[in-house]
Amino acid sequence: MMSSHEPESPGKTGSTSASIGELRWTYVLDDTVLLEGRMAPVYPLGVNVLLARVGGAVYAVSGKCAHMSCPLSEGRLEGCTIVCGCHDWRFDVRTGKFLDAPELGLTVYPTRLEAGKLFVNLG
Ligand code: FES
Repeated sequence: MMSSHEPESPGKTGSTSASIGELRWTYVLDDTVLLEGRMAPVYPLGVNVLLARVGGAVYAVSGKCAHMSCPLSEGRLEGCTIVCGCHDWRFDVRTGKFLDAPELGLTVYPTRLEAGKLFVNLG
C-alpha cells in the first residue's frame, strides 16, 4: 500500500537500503511513529532529513533551513507549512519552496511506505 505523495514502484523488503534501478530507498522510520500533523528528524545515510505527515501523506525535505541552517525539526508545522524556529521563514512541506520567494527552498525527497516502514529516496 502506498500513502506517500509520490508513488513509486515497490522494491525489496526486509532491508534497510534498497536499490531499484536508479533509485535508492533508505529506511527511516516505522510508519506508526509519525503521527498526523507532526514532524520527525531522521538521518538516512547521515543526511539530515525532516519528515512530516499532513493529510495522511508523508513528506520529506532537507532538515536544515535554507536561511541560516537552523534545524527545522525545532520549528513548527502549520498545515502544509513548516515555520523555522529561528527567524520564521516558512516553507511548503509539499514542494520545499520558501513562501516569500519560491526560487529559494528546501530539497524534497520522495517517500514511500512499504510493510509499515517509511523509506526516503536520497537520489
Ligand atoms: S535559519 Fe531558518 S529562518 Fe533563519
